Amino acid sequence: MTSNLRIDGRRLVGRLARLGQVGALPDRGVCRLALTEEDRQGRDLLVGWMKDLGLSVVIDRIGNIFGTRAGANALPPLMIGSHIDTVRTGGLYDGALGVLAGLEVVETLNDAGVATERPITVAAFTNEEGSRFQPDMMGSLVHVGGMDVEGARATVGIDGETVADCLDRIGYTGDLPAQPPEIHAFLELHVEQGPVLETEGRTIGIVEGVQGISWTEYTFEGTAAHAGTTPMAMRRDAGVVAARLAVAVREVANEMGGAQVGTVGLLALEPNLVNVIPDRAVMTVDLRNTDEAELSRAERIVAEHVAAVTEDEGVTVAARTLARFEPVVFDADLVANVEAEAMRLGFTTRRLPSGAGHDAQMLARVCPAAMIFVPSVGGLSHNVEEYTNDEDVTAGAAVLFAVSARLAGVDPKGVSSA
Ligand code: GLV
Ligand code: MN
Ligand code: MN
Repeated sequence: MTSNLRIDGRRLVGRLARLGQVGALPDRGVCRLALTEEDRQGRDLLVGWMKDLGLSVVIDRIGNIFGTRAGANALPPLMIGSHIDTVRTGGLYDGALGVLAGLEVVETLNDAGVATERPITVAAFTNEEGSRFQPDMMGSLVHVGGMDVEGARATVGIDGETVADCLDRIGYTGDLPAQPPEIHAFLELHVEQGPVLETEGRTIGIVEGVQGISWTEYTFEGTAAHAGTTPMAMRRDAGVVAARLAVAVREVANEMGGAQVGTVGLLALEPNLVNVIPDRAVMTVDLRNTDEAELSRAERIVAEHVAAVTEDEGVTVAARTLARFEPVVFDADLVANVEAEAMRLGFTTRRLPSGAGHDAQMLARVCPAAMIFVPSVGGLSHNVEEYTNDEDVTAGAAVLFAVSARLAGVDPKGVSSA
């Protein structure tokens, strides 16, 4: 019954392409920002596929989608998942791969008529990206009890709408109350989104953990004044403060070295006119490090720069934390299990930390969690050019299937790689 169980890579690639048509950008890439009309269409497609595969589908109050294939016993499920929201200029793979590979695991078991000992739940978590609403990984954070569901629903996004209003509008405020989940283990297949696997010629990344994330929004207030008449010494220029801080963030990351990275990804000036000194600047600072002490040090140094540049220019500042998550180390046994299955299937592997945030880091709070990475061509992600070749997609799904089969209670010796 369980011999020669193998996933169908072409079927998975076909679903990735189909989902990629939802919110497709004119040239290439995808925009399915969380809780937009495009997100609704993607969710509807996913839920349809889940139902076609016989999964029982439930939605919770933050809009997380769970499709469950029953097990022979009513045990806590193996959960496989990720997200289907994207950044504004995203690709086909970030998040979608982890969810659709979960469907592929289920369909492979269905086709073979194999029952697993425990249930398998495929999850798509709300607003993993955090581009429109902060914090990122909101759905999975709520799911594990790390954020109050009503607080999350009250979050106001970059366009002034609340999570609750958007969930209601797209029809994804579900009935399932947020409750502490009982999960046997969590697995997430994801594209690496960086250059390491491709550069080293390895197929499967064995993810040991996720680096810490610190997101802060700064609002600087100065005085709008005439660009031609205001002497340089008399200016309170919010734009200059933002520009100086942006440069400082780059220098802090460079000077600290190691794993420290720093990014200013959002900067908005007001009134944003050629001949008016900006009286207001809003900007974000994204700091990440695998080491919590180093991340805290980076935050302190940036805060010192903020104090210095605002004082220099006589500009006021308000700081707001948008997200702050400590580094996460994944369950050592489960990580070793993933590595062993990847090697048994004959793939080249490499252990590495994740530079990006992922739902798995939230699930790690309540159950053993692990991730499988596959190479990103050119290391690109959060970019419309994001691409992972079909062979690597298939390899990652094969590893996911083998680990899932073992965890859910199927003999993995019958599992082959492609
Ligand atoms: C989420 O994708 C993040 O790491 O920014
Ligand atoms: Mn992702
Ligand atoms: Mn992403």
